[in-house]
Amino acid sequence: MASAEAVAAVVEAGGAHVPGLMRDLEERLATIAQSHGPTLGEHAGATIAAGGKRLRPLLVFVAAGPDPAGRDAALRAAVAVELVHSATLVHDDVLDAAVLRRGRPTVVASAGRSIATATGDLLFSRAFAELAGGGTVDPVRVLSDASSALVQGELLQREDAWKLQTTRERYLRRCDLKTARLFRAACELGALAGGGKVALLGEFGERIGLAFQILDDVLDVSGPAERTGKHRGTDLLDGTVTLPLILARERDPELERLDLRAVRTPEQAEGVCDAIAATGALGAAREEALAMVADAKADLPCLPEPSQQAALELVADSVVDRYS
Ligand code: IPE
Ligand code: IPE
Ligand code: MG
Ligand code: MG
Repeated sequence: MASAEAVAAVVEAGGAHVPGLMRDLEERLATIAQSHGPTLGEHAGATIAAGGKRLRPLLVFVAAGPDPAGRDAALRAAVAVELVHSATLVHDDVLDAAVLRRGRPTVVASAGRSIATATGDLLFSRAFAELAGGGTVDPVRVLSDASSALVQGELLQREDAWKLQTTRERYLRRCDLKTARLFRAACELGALAGGGKVALLGEFGERIGLAFQILDDVLDVSGPAERTGKHRGTDLLDGTVTLPLILARERDPELERLDLRAVRTPEQAEGVCDAIAATGALGAAREEALAMVADAKADLPCLPEPSQQAALELVADSVVDRYS
């Protein structure tokens, strides 16, 4: 988790409107996941019930601000963003052949590829129904654009699988598409609901989203699994080349000669993780992410409401201070 304390601090600092909205979010997510038949209900319900940080909904609420006039739109947007996020995780675990998610077996590991695909599809489709219920088209467009970007990012990741020559530019583009654009959408949707600065908040979201993915990639190498809820080296085992490996290869000739396809077992992957860590590449990647978070925070003083600025700064910090 972005340490539980970090998220709780944001819920508190986000304004008096936030805790009630977070409760309503949980209730709504659980209802949606359970209302489409027993098989899908079981897996979609389990995915939702397994928790997760709910960082994107939190961003929606903080970006929306406290005006009660925007409450319904903010809640719909938050539910929709979390549904899209959960859908992509279920599908991502199929693509990445991952066995552990949020500390539990993935849907693909416990129920197979077909059910995982259908579960993800269901979660996706309910997200857009939720937004459509609000009756305005702009939010639907924002989330649809982010979802399309996400799919393109996942495809780019497949295309680049096993390619050790992947450049940092291409890596950053992939992270932007698959992760940062949904963070941008969360902030834009909040701003639309609350009548705030859409472009400024969107930019903030995209920057912290990029940092978030880089740090996720660092955690994949550093672990520990007990704190991340995922095994170390999952990315290596499915051929995903991330910033820590890109930087480590510049520093260690042995890693430059690495044959990624020969890394087959979790033990071998852990060995490569250790070799990457030994180069100092994890610290370097983390520094890059921290610089992005600092950049994101630098634009916030343009916001009219200091309490909103403080809450967004805390969200940005929680991205840095996280474990899964
Ligand atoms: C995981 O996102 C997928 C990435 C974009 C790295 P989170 O780490 O926010 O996942 P949950 O919702 O807390 O499980
Ligand atoms: C993020 O990528 C997944 C999506 C944006 C769908 P990862 O593949 O790195 O996420 P984890 O590590 O499986 O959570
Ligand atoms: Mg994955
Ligand atoms: Mg990952």
